[in-house]
Amino acid sequence: MNWKVRANLLRALAAMPGGHRVYVALQRQFGRFRDPKYIRRKLKRQAELARLAVEHGVQLEGAHVMELGTGWVPAMAFGFYLCGAKKVSTFDLNKYVFHESLKAVMLCITTDSGNQGIWADLVDSKTLYRRMVGVDSKNRDEYVLDIIPDYELDDFQFFNIEYIAPGDARNSGLAADSIDIHCSTNTFEHIPREDLLAILVEARRVLKPNGLAVHYADPTDHFAHADKTQSPVRFLNLTQRDIERYYRNRYTYQNLLFDDDYRELFDEAGLEIVDVKFKLDDRSLDALKTNPPTLSGFENRNVEQLSRRNLIYVARKRQ
Ligand SMILES: C[S@@+](CC[C@H](N)C(=O)[O-])C[C@H]1O[C@@H](n2cnc3c(N)ncnc32)[C@H](O)[C@@H]1O
Repeated sequence: MNWKVRANLLRALAAMPGGHRVYVALQRQFGRFRDPKYIRRKLKRQAELARLAVEHGVQLEGAHVMELGTGWVPAMAFGFYLCGAKKVSTFDLNKYVFHESLKAVMLCITTDSGNQGIWADLVDSKTLYRRMVGVDSKNRDEYVLDIIPDYELDDFQFFNIEYIAPGDARNSGLAADSIDIHCSTNTFEHIPREDLLAILVEARRVLKPNGLAVHYADPTDHFAHADKTQSPVRFLNLTQRDIERYYRNRYTYQNLLFDDDYRELFDEAGLEIVDVKFKLDDRSLDALKTNPPTLSGFENRNVEQLSRRNLIYVARKRQ
């Protein structure tokens, strides 16, 4: 879809009385959670973050995981359950998970036998199989998943998952020094800088001394995801007015932070980065070399930095 059509539609929904209901209804009807490939990608991402946590010394079996920004599809939470987490506390300001999206994750986990491979190096095969069978049997349990109304879907305790929504990761209420892994995917970029700082300060408070913050962020222009005619850094050549118009409502908010900004934020929050992964996006780099950023504040930024995507940070409390 042309990015401006989409942007204007979302902008209108954000401004319109009752627009949120329409937004939720549209997501439920046409949301990407219906595509098993989309969920599978999320499960793979969870395994990637879990793997990094293990490489940096955290044990998954028995871990207490805190997730920031559950979204519509609780794939991260289920992934950590399969990896042996004793508890996953997943927070979202909005209660977006509903029956169909919950079932879609469970179905995706259990219908594709190839999925076992996602966690093959993280969990022994018998244990993983047993947990997957457990997910499958609950998914068939009509009482649990079909009769409970959506608004009561506030925890999936049979999977050690505590769904806290509405819940604010800036002020989690979790005990200090109690969390082994603080994580998120595709969430950082949607949060204003000052809120993200508060979230990371809270992460520092709740993390155990050897716990890890492991986060994946996508700093590219999200309107370019669905409109391939647009470059992933296209927003750096818009005007400030366009940014305010199209990237500042509750459905399209993007903070326009990049790799160096996130590194600075971790540091400011008292978290020490121990590992960073990213991909240098050639398309973005070419686009920025041809058309250097004109957006105010970005004119003198390093174009290589701005072309980094698939950002992953692993950080621990600075002692
Ligand atoms: C893009 S969505 C999450 C995507 C999800 N992690 C995924 O990969 O599908 C970002 C979510 O972060 C949530 N969020 C924003 N600020 C938050 C906060 N302070 N505490 C908890 N959740 C927050 C929003 O409500 C939104 O649902």
